[in-house]
Amino acid sequence: MKRPSSYPHLPFSSLVGRAALFQWIKEFLNKCNIQGGYFEFGVLNGESMCEAYFILRDQVDRYIGFDAFEGLPPLSQTDEFGLFLQPDFIEGNFKSMSYEFVYQTILSTGLAPDKLLLVKGFFEEALTMDLQSQLLPGGRASVVHLDVDLYVSTKQALEFIYPFFQTGTWLLCDDYWTYAGASSFGTQKALKEFLAEHPDILLQEYCSYRGWSKAFIVERIS
Ligand SMILES: C[S@@+](CC[C@H](N)C(=O)[O-])C[C@H]1O[C@@H](n2cnc3c(N)ncnc32)[C@H](O)[C@@H]1O
Repeated sequence: MKRPSSYPHLPFSSLVGRAALFQWIKEFLNKCNIQGGYFEFGVLNGESMCEAYFILRDQVDRYIGFDAFEGLPPLSQTDEFGLFLQPDFIEGNFKSMSYEFVYQTILSTGLAPDKLLLVKGFFEEALTMDLQSQLLPGGRASVVHLDVDLYVSTKQALEFIYPFFQTGTWLLCDDYWTYAGASSFGTQKALKEFLAEHPDILLQEYCSYRGWSKAFIVERIS
């Protein structure tokens, strides 16, 4: 029997990067006629939101971002315990240039100001029920992008966005495989708990992307 000499070399572009994933999402939303906004938790300097808009703009017309723009908040005990696996997830890391800079950066893509909402503040105070009900009339999500690194922040984001989930919403977990892939920290812990508390939400695995991220499609059962 012939021994395979080596794996064929894969060009980098054939691996799933974030921009490639947005292309698949665009096709999916179009094919399945899914309507709803793009919600991003953890905007930093707007890079991923600009990328999303460039690719999804024919499909998604509202972009809503949430961030303190001051870097990561003080750590909970669980997030402190995880530092031995993920030492860069410390208070103050990933601080944005400024709210104004991020707002103007995103608008420079051509997105109309009335289609963009950037909510400033740490989630503990900013993700209120008032805000939830303001956004809710007709409020559905076509894409939810979680990129907030920490367990507590991810849990807060999931609780806030829960009513916006519909069958066909994409849930992008940027930090899914961080903490060396350990399931008792970060996004994986938050997601596991959220799903146990909300049995009407099922997640279909779509794929991993980049080196540390994973995409799901939501199924909402009544
Ligand atoms: C890794 S950065 C996001 C990167 C961005 N999505 C991109 O790819 O360009 C993480 C962001 O989450 C924000 N963040 C994390 N926890 C937060 C919290 N509890 N409240 C507000 N912002 C938070 C931080 O301020 C930071 O800007």
